[in-house]
Amino acid sequence: MYNSMRKKVSIIGAGHVGASTAQLVAHEGVADIVLCDIAEGLPQGKALDIVEACPLWNSSVSVKGTNSYDDTAGSDVIVITAGIPRKPGMSRDDLLKTNAGIVKGVASETSKLSPDAVIVVVTNPMDVMAYVACKMSGCDPHKVFGMGGVLDSARFRTFIAFELGVSPADVEALVMGGHGDQMVPMTRFTTVKGIPIAKMLAPDKIAALIERTRNGGAEIVSFLKTGSAYYAPAASAYQMIKAVLFDEKRVLPCSAYLKGQYGVDGVYVGVPAVIGARGLERVVELELNEEEKRDLDKSVAAVKALIEKLTL
Ligand code: NAI
Ligand code: 2OP
Repeated sequence: MYNSMRKKVSIIGAGHVGASTAQLVAHEGVADIVLCDIAEGLPQGKALDIVEACPLWNSSVSVKGTNSYDDTAGSDVIVITAGIPRKPGMSRDDLLKTNAGIVKGVASETSKLSPDAVIVVVTNPMDVMAYVACKMSGCDPHKVFGMGGVLDSARFRTFIAFELGVSPADVEALVMGGHGDQMVPMTRFTTVKGIPIAKMLAPDKIAALIERTRNGGAEIVSFLKTGSAYYAPAASAYQMIKAVLFDEKRVLPCSAYLKGQYGVDGVYVGVPAVIGARGLERVVELELNEEEKRDLDKSVAAVKALIEKLTL
């Protein structure tokens, strides 16, 4: 065995999102990767497949598949994608309880072995799972944040770009609130090269784009039938991982633990924040108008209602 000076990213859950995230990290060659899952053979097989692509990508990173948390020791970033999807006959509450149990175990085990790691939570219902991961890993809200807003904003950007016939790269968008039906696409903070979309699109068009964004996850599920989105979710997780590995200080919408910001206390919910080597370094506070504040409060209430159902 050799000792690597490279950064280390451990991805827990080698399913669709976890493996696609591992693929991006390997392709970009930015860190050694550990892919960990309870299913025997699955992480080993996917890791081997990904590492066999590395010669073609001129990438020198290692990719290890494992069923043991021990291999995650000393990670710089832990990504939690472990969980189960909703099955027929299963309520959202059942899913909440099952995934909370999984995330609870994953966060407490991995944080013991990697006490300095930044934890990026992906498992749904994500804002609640970020709360669980924070509580189980020592309650440092700077070290634990959730991925949802980057994905929802990317979807909003995509739909705006379709509508206007411009590159999505030139569309800046912000979606705040929980990663759920009550998410809040922020029209006032959504621009094309600095031009607010309200100057380029009629209100009914904007309303339709907001609706499609809120429904973005379900739209993919309705095509796939079994399973949910993973390419854009993995790209979103990767953007956050990269911001940590390279101390980029990117301003990204993340599920963050709020302590009074936006008038919210003790809940994880999506807000813009600065992401760097120390994790979620600070929440960016925008001045919201009354309507925006009301929509955000509604979304916070939905997350709070789920947190209240938890027994940790
Ligand atoms: P998937 O079913 O393909 O993968 C989940 C993996 O977790 C499976 O391989 C399973 O064996 C593993 N797993 C279950 N319990 C485990 C445990 N205790 N330890 C380690 N691994 C365990 O699901 P997919 O599509 O990868 O989605 C993963 C999660 O991410 C889901 O909860 C999904 O809803 C969520 N998601 C969240 C998004 C967001 O924006 N926050 C976007 C996309 C997905
Ligand atoms: C999505 O938005 C399932 O949360 C996931 O696609």
